[in-house]
Formats: sequence, structure tokens, C-alpha cells
Amino acid sequence: MKNRIVMSAMTRNFSPDHVATEKTVNYYEARAAGGAALILTEGIIVHSTADGYVDVPHIQTTEQAQSWRPVVDAVHRAGAKIFCQLWHCGRISHSDFTGGVPPVSSTNQAAAGMNRQNGKPFGTPRALGAEEMPDIYSMFAHSARLALDAGFDGVQVHMGHGYLVDQFFDARVNDRTDRYGGTVENRCRFALELLECVLAAVPKEKVMVRISPSRDMGGIYDWPDLEEMIGHLLPAFRGMGLRMLDISCAAADYFATSGRVVRMARPLWPSCLIGGASLTRAQAEGEVESGLLDLVTWGRSFIANPDFGARLADGRPVKEFDRAMLADLI
Ligand SMILES: Cc1cc2nc3c(=O)[nH]c(=O)nc-3n(C[C@H](O)[C@H](O)[C@H](O)COP(=O)(O)O)c2cc1C
Repeated sequence: MKNRIVMSAMTRNFSPDHVATEKTVNYYEARAAGGAALILTEGIIVHSTADGYVDVPHIQTTEQAQSWRPVVDAVHRAGAKIFCQLWHCGRISHSDFTGGVPPVSSTNQAAAGMNRQNGKPFGTPRALGAEEMPDIYSMFAHSARLALDAGFDGVQVHMGHGYLVDQFFDARVNDRTDRYGGTVENRCRFALELLECVLAAVPKEKVMVRISPSRDMGGIYDWPDLEEMIGHLLPAFRGMGLRMLDISCAAADYFATSGRVVRMARPLWPSCLIGGASLTRAQAEGEVESGLLDLVTWGRSFIANPDFGARLADGRPVKEFDRAMLADLI
């Protein structure tokens, strides 16, 4: 990799047919040419029943996967690497997005609040039966294979931000009484079985996981049993052969959230550790120089500045992100 600058995954809602387009190619190519060494794509939905958003890409069919080949090729020509983020929304959805079937989750309880994607309350999910879980794992494994066939350098399994896998981790959501709920071990089981299936399908060194044990969701929010969860999950991930981990806090203050988790995680995770959220160059260098992070992620700065990586490297001023910038994919 040409540097330690990573563009983090950001949904852009510009795929009405669930495929990458010419606009997608130009968008990612500009970030690669503009200094990112690694690009994590927007979340790409593993199956039509896993969707929860308007106009987001899917990676269920060969055609959908191959639509990304021009993106991958353009990013490679620009000297960067690109991973495909694999996404299942779970209950952060509505039957409007899942082809009319109820979204699935760890629970039968709907998420609180309104779904901004369709202006309706989140749909009432159906708790997955243990016997159905292998089908979900297979969706991820199948999509991972399709992504690598399309030329992606790797996949990032999205296990954060309150989506399906996080709905198992989080004791406030997971109300199960079977082997997938209750204790720390049980709440990690779904993630570990899923990862095992993905790692059996594609080379281990091409897989990264994203988790968000501490983030801002109407106040700072930690996974219940945070230290025990990290203490169980990370050694289990390593034992399975995973070597790349992205610790996200979504849009929270890094030092109040992920920064704490990274300090807890590092002694257990001697492999590649990735994190960040709007860090200054000095803060990013501090985290790298003290051995906490190997690579640093930026999200919104890359939307505002296609050449954010180059600007960061040579200290040029950067434009502030503004939500109005989300209206177009440029
Ligand atoms: C418009 C937008 C869309 C996002 N979509 C995703 C996504 O699809 N998957 C994901 O893991 N994170 C997503 N995120 C979170 C970012 O990856 C990142 O963690 C967050 O923006 C914090 O980094 P920053 O402060 O550098 O922007 C999104 C963030 C934004 C602003």
C-alpha cells in the first residue's frame, strides 16, 4: 500500500438497479487517484432480503458483482486497493426494501424510531430460527466469492452499526434464550459462525471485519459487557485466521469511543488494526506511531474532497463536509 490512508465505507444511494454505474467508477477512481491507498466500498447488500435502503448496490448475482469490475480496474490503475463491504441490514429495514417479506433479526422487536429511507417506522422483524442461520452465512460466503471473482482485493464483512450481526452482539437488542442469546459467548456465536463460513469460502488474508463496539447513537453507546465481548471475540477471530479488523464508531468522536476500544483491543490484536473518524493528521500519526492503528480511515472528508488523501499528505486545506454534498455522486 502506498500509504496508511483508507477511505471508509459510505452508502451513497446511487444504484437504482442495484449495480455499479459509470458514475460509481468515476467516484471511486477519483478517491484512489486522490491519495487513498485502500478504498472500502459503500455497503453492498448480500441478498435482496437483506436490503434496507433506497437504491443501494447488491452482490447476489454474477451480473451485480461484475458491474463492479470497471470500478475495481479503475481503482487499481490509480494505484490503490479496494475491498467490497458486505452488508445485511437485519431489522434496520422494512418490507418495502426486502421484497415484501419481514426483515430478519436476532429479535422480533422492531427498532425504535422512523426509517428515514421511507418515512415509515422500522418494520417488525422476524427472529431467525437457528436452522435458518446457515442460509444467512451462505449469503455472505457467496457474495464474498462473487466479489473476489470481480477482482476486489478483499471483502469487509459489516458487523457494526446496529445491522444484522450487531443485532446479535448487542444485549439490548438480542432477547433470545437459545444458544445465540444471553451470555457473551452466545451473543458472539452468530458472528463467529458467519465468519467461519466466509473464511472457508475465500482466502483468509482477503477478509476484514468491521465492528463498532462503541459509537454515538443519541449519546455514547457501548456494547453491554464491552470488555468481556472484546476479550472473547478478538481471540476467537484470530484463532479462525482473521487478520484485519476495522473498529468503527460511525460518526462519533473517535477518542471518546473507538479510541477506547482500540486501546483495549490492541494487546489482543497484533494483526492489522484499522480505525478512525475525522482524525487530524497529527492525531492519526499519533495513533500509528504509538502502535495502536496500522491504517487510518476517513469517511466524510473523502466525500467533500476527492483528493483528500493527497491534501492530507501535503498539508493543503480541505473542504468541510456538508450533507448537501450527498445529493450528487461526484
Ligand atoms: C453518508 C455516509 C454513509 C455511510 N455508510 C456507511 C456504510 O455503508 N457502511 C459503513 O460501515 N459505514 C458507513 N458510514 C460510516 C463511515 O464509514 C464512517 O465510519 C463515519 O463517517 C465516520 O468517519 P468520518 O468521521 O471520517 O466521516 C457512512 C457514513 C456516511 C457519512
